[in-house]
Amino acid sequence: MKETSKRHLHNGKTIGFVPTMGALHEGHLSLIKRAKSENDIVVASIFINPTQFAPNEDFEKYPRDMEGDMEKLKREGVDILFMPDTKSMYSDGFSTYVTVKDLSDKLCGAFRPGHFTGVATVVCKLFNIVKPVAAYFGQKDFQQAAIIKRMVENLNMDVDLIICPTLREPDGLAMSSRNVYLSHEERRAAAVIYKTLLSASKMTKSGESNPVDVRKQMHDMLKAEPLISEIQYAGVYDTNTLDELNEFKRQNLLAVAVKIGSTRLIDNMIVEF
Ligand code: PAF
Repeated sequence: MKETSKRHLHNGKTIGFVPTMGALHEGHLSLIKRAKSENDIVVASIFINPTQFAPNEDFEKYPRDMEGDMEKLKREGVDILFMPDTKSMYSDGFSTYVTVKDLSDKLCGAFRPGHFTGVATVVCKLFNIVKPVAAYFGQKDFQQAAIIKRMVENLNMDVDLIICPTLREPDGLAMSSRNVYLSHEERRAAAVIYKTLLSASKMTKSGESNPVDVRKQMHDMLKAEPLISEIQYAGVYDTNTLDELNEFKRQNLLAVAVKIGSTRLIDNMIVEF
């Protein structure tokens, strides 16, 4: 992959990069479409990165669909698919990790210790290998995007980060590879996440509430859905620090993480004044 990238760069081509863990859905394909429209060469990677899963998480059962993924990538006209194996990414004696302090312990990080170190480390490695001028991520993983942005700034990396809108199912559920874990009933119940964000966004825009009221309303709506087994967080956060807000700012992050059965789902919306 390094040699191929060098050859394209030598020939004056720009490389756009879409890193993924496979089980591709329309959300991933929208990133690829955007990358195609802005670069000479598009590289997609599929690598289920073990360092971003805790031992009790779903690494083993994470959905895998190599054939389907390759078909989709071909259809979208991806130029290069990079699929490293675990041994070549994490050789014996691997001991260098990237941690974006502060941002990594909040929101999802509080429930998934070590997760964002795994993400930042693998994305740093992938950037070094693929050497893209631009990399494409989804807004659904807002915290991941914020952490990668901070890493790129702090480590002086030459990569433009393009954050693309979340794609949704007809009932509003954010597309995610993990949605396949949901039973029929759980899938129906999951629509409450988007409904909660929509209603919180209306409340925020109304100008007649504060973040504390919005948070309460979000928790009330989520608690009313019996299939939600755990609310990990739901509220209004600062888009830069990811801290919970007591007063609205110009830009506000409404964010939710819940478990439905044993499936963890996240979603968010930005409200700007
Ligand atoms: O968002 C993902 O699919 C993963 O976290 C990423 C960015 C490919 C790193 O493994």
